[in-house]
Amino acid sequence: MCGIIGIVGGTPVTGRLIESLRRLEYRGYDSAGVAAADGEAITIRRAPGKLRNLEAVLRENPADGVAGIGHTRWATHGAPIERNAHPHRAGRVVVVHNGIIENFAELKTALQAEGRTFHSDTDTEVVAHLFDHELALAPPLDAFKTTLDQLRGAYALAVMIDGEPDLILGARRGPPLVVGYGQGEMFLGSDAVAVGPFTNRVAYLEDGDYVAVTRTDIRIFDETGATADRPVRVVPASAALVEKGEYRHFMEKEIHEQPDACQHTLSAYLDPVALTAHAPGGFDFQGVERLQIVACGTAYYAGLTAKYLFERLAGLAVDVEVASEFRYREPALSRFTLALAVSQSGETADTLAALKWCKAQGLATAALVNAHESSMAREADHMWPTNAGTEIGVASTKAFTAQVCALTALAITAAARRGRIDSGEEARLVGVLLEAPRLITEAMAVEPEARALAHDLARARDVLYLGRGQAFPLALEGALKLKEISYIHAEGYAAGELKHGPIALVDEETPVIVIAPSDALFEKTVSNMQEVAARGGPIVLITDAEGARHAAGSMRTLLAPACDPLVAPLVFAPAIQLLAYHVGVHKGLDVDQPRNLAKSVTVE
Ligand code: G6P
Repeated sequence: MCGIIGIVGGTPVTGRLIESLRRLEYRGYDSAGVAAADGEAITIRRAPGKLRNLEAVLRENPADGVAGIGHTRWATHGAPIERNAHPHRAGRVVVVHNGIIENFAELKTALQAEGRTFHSDTDTEVVAHLFDHELALAPPLDAFKTTLDQLRGAYALAVMIDGEPDLILGARRGPPLVVGYGQGEMFLGSDAVAVGPFTNRVAYLEDGDYVAVTRTDIRIFDETGATADRPVRVVPASAALVEKGEYRHFMEKEIHEQPDACQHTLSAYLDPVALTAHAPGGFDFQGVERLQIVACGTAYYAGLTAKYLFERLAGLAVDVEVASEFRYREPALSRFTLALAVSQSGETADTLAALKWCKAQGLATAALVNAHESSMAREADHMWPTNAGTEIGVASTKAFTAQVCALTALAITAAARRGRIDSGEEARLVGVLLEAPRLITEAMAVEPEARALAHDLARARDVLYLGRGQAFPLALEGALKLKEISYIHAEGYAAGELKHGPIALVDEETPVIVIAPSDALFEKTVSNMQEVAARGGPIVLITDAEGARHAAGSMRTLLAPACDPLVAPLVFAPAIQLLAYHVGVHKGLDVDQPRNLAKSVTVE
């Protein structure tokens, strides 16, 4: 969602603000803006649409200064038009914001009663007015604190004041905010990627923190107003400066990075010499009666995959629920439930809220996250990492397989600790899982065929994905990928449910993609496939060499390497990802930043 950058420096900042905003594009946005302070005055430039529009505005009407803030906006309150783009100004104050101010309506009414005029439809503008109001009564830091105390909702803020060119104020409640330490200049940004071009020394603000950033100094305060010490970390260059390299798109690069992402993740969970599995930091799966997984989007489908694994291998009951439903449902959970949040970013607002709710109920909590410094990582009792590296493509790929790797390793761990498997079986399963990165590499060989097939699929209006068992979550994920990247309507179904509705959709114009590894359920899935064929539905069968023997003449196949069922979700994932990717590319769409989508959904 919205991206924020702030620079307090000694040299012109606008070019660098734009450079940073370009790196924040991956979060998803529909307008952008910058403000720069030169001496006393702050100048604002904004434009709807992509950054090139803002650059065109700046070429027409340059604005620069020695300090500035920039913003990419993902619209919540108010259409993505220039008037609603950030920064927003009121009096001496200029603000950019990520999040939602929930009590903006009542604050606005009070401020309007004071005679203040609003120029946008946003919730953010009230922050500018409120702070400007408080600034008339107190020095900047005190006025800022009083302002924050009146806000309800979620925010990451960066604020400038006319006449204070050596100061940017920031605050965080909900969405993340980092500060960056440079030489003679300091930075503020949504994440390490935002400040990555300028510094790799960052500190992560805690929830409720606010900060005063000057050219030479960063002072952080906690929500009580007390000075807070947040550790400065050196972010690896690979995390801070992510480039496309030889690839056309981040999504393509990230699909091909999956063998590494999985290997790095598995190294945190598996001992390749002893052939054992463990939960990083240790965890007693014996004391757990139930596992409650909460997640959103692709992470939810990784969670669904885990249900099959944990129940089959470890005899541990698993509930999986989308976080946005879970958090308001008042679920009945036993004390011996482990709540597990699965999230690439560790910041998704609903997942974080669900995790906090579980913690407040006194449950043990764990977070499986790719961002190890994220809110969920810090909130949970146990942080279990995926080591996929920064994921830029809005549609998740390598984070998904890394999550499935970690969850598979955890399921083996639980099975062994709960006495469901002996050490010989643990060693066998760990051996199989260690093979996954190599098999995923082999699975990439499907790309030419996926590309060819994508040309035909690009004409479809609707596509059905079918799978059984562990292939069912993959069918859901395949449909989600296609929707996100190609804007083609797609539905994932459990193959056995076909006859209970979706078969009515089958005709010559509706491709049906069947995901069927040659496992114990293969024949049943093939029967469902025949039901589609009998009704003239064009079929694409994603299977292995053994399964391909069952493909009939007119059917297209995508081949995955033969593998143990344990790793089938990992080995079959590249085919569905590459298919979606090439359909999007063939249609000439922006696969890294699909319309309306955001990478990290920090508002509910
Ligand atoms: C957004 C992204 C998805 C992602 C989901 C959950 O919808 O576009 O790719 O799967 O959020 O994000 P998380 O960071 O919690 O895994």
